[in-house]
Amino acid sequence: MLNELLNPTLFRHDTAFDDLYPEHIQELSQMHWTPVDIAKKAGDFLSIPNNSVLDIGSGVGKFCITAGFFHPETFFCGIEQREELYTFAEIAKAEIELPNVNFIHGNLTELDFKNYDHFYFYNPFYENIEPDSRIDYTVRTSFELYNLYSRFVFQMLEEKPPETRLVTFHAPETQVPPGYQLVNNSYSRVLKMWIKK
Ligand SMILES: C[S@@+](CC[C@H](N)C(=O)[O-])C[C@H]1O[C@@H](n2cnc3c(N)ncnc32)[C@H](O)[C@@H]1O
Repeated sequence: MLNELLNPTLFRHDTAFDDLYPEHIQELSQMHWTPVDIAKKAGDFLSIPNNSVLDIGSGVGKFCITAGFFHPETFFCGIEQREELYTFAEIAKAEIELPNVNFIHGNLTELDFKNYDHFYFYNPFYENIEPDSRIDYTVRTSFELYNLYSRFVFQMLEEKPPETRLVTFHAPETQVPPGYQLVNNSYSRVLKMWIKK
């Protein structure tokens, strides 16, 4: 059930949601942040009461905040390497007051994935191999980091138990271990839902 004190109009359009952020962050939205309708759909699939969902590379928090708003019984966490993006995620979260949403500033390789049950993955490492898709120059990018991060997430997903859910958005299928079964896809196959068998 939605918390009636909150304002769902914020989640009707990307422009309304993106107003939570300063202009230079809004300009990045189309290319880098999950649209609200995708976040809702992904959240519907990943939300299981009392389970934890991790957004791997959470940016300014658009996925966690949207999914967390519609699913207050599920805990959503995002990890983000860029301090500025993490800070804007925290500011947006404070404005909407979502007790089931949490953000961590850091690199995903430092995180204990045992604390999370299900995962959202919006092709976070792409800027390492495609310079035109760089968000900014505050972090190092390289082919080596692309491989390191991809291997790290692949192995983490492989170690998860059956029934683990995963949503990928614009992500290559090679980044998903073979134990995960594709159960749904939409938006011209760029949004994919998986369950580990
Ligand atoms: C395409 S954006 C998606 C943002 C957010 N998940 C969303 O859907 O709105 C990918 C984000 O992943 C972050 N990222 C990439 N590699 C990371 C790493 N190794 N550790 C933490 N964050 C990372 C980037 O800084 C970027 O903000």
